[in-house]
Amino acid sequence: MSGSRRPLVVGNWKMNGLGGDLATVAAIARHAAALPGVEAALCVPATLIERAARRAPGLAIGAQDCHAAPAGAFTGGVSAAMLADAGARLVIVGHSERRADGDDDDAIRAKAKAAIGAGLRVLLCVGERDEGDGAASVAAQLTRCLPQITGDVVVAYEPCWAIGTGRSPAVRRVVAVTRALREVVGGEGARVLYGGSVTPANAAALIGAGIDGLLVGGASLDAATFGAVLAAATATR
Ligand code: PGA
Repeated sequence: MSGSRRPLVVGNWKMNGLGGDLATVAAIARHAAALPGVEAALCVPATLIERAARRAPGLAIGAQDCHAAPAGAFTGGVSAAMLADAGARLVIVGHSERRADGDDDDAIRAKAKAAIGAGLRVLLCVGERDEGDGAASVAAQLTRCLPQITGDVVVAYEPCWAIGTGRSPAVRRVVAVTRALREVVGGEGARVLYGGSVTPANAAALIGAGIDGLLVGGASLDAATFGAVLAAATATR
């Protein structure tokens, strides 16, 4: 049953993080280990995956994108198998910042399929571009992106207008959209997170309302702040 299991809280560092930031990864891992009531993961730049996974073996380290092809002449591309080989356990696909860079629904579905094939958990992001679009349009977007194969797929509802803006939808709106998305994925086991300007201040209300977890951008860059998000998500279950 959604709502009864541990919330999943995933940090997304985006294009931030150098070797000098591995101490922050280790500090986040310590916060996560002290809060067993929440399942934590951290998606770092591809260049940091291997070092982060070594430095924080107890924390699930993830990537932020992958190529749809397994290998080949794709200069600059990084395949899902390469990410898994580096130590990633999950990968974000369909983030709105990748969609803005040209990923369409077909490309995202192909990437999700490739990630499943490589044994990675997929964090599949969907969300409306304009405030006020109905839940049905977000659900339709998910239907177009969802690979029709069995795999570990977690959905993240991220309204584009809420990402990095300090604005987020009313909790009841998040509940309504995530419910619609859960129906698309089907099955009681489906998990749908929320992302977009999550902070220690709004995390508790979201988790308390039954949202399965959170995708956290800016507030995951600082270990104490991300630790406070993890603590808020734990305290409400
Ligand atoms: P934000 O980013 O928390 O900084 O709004 C969320 C995301 O892009 O996943």
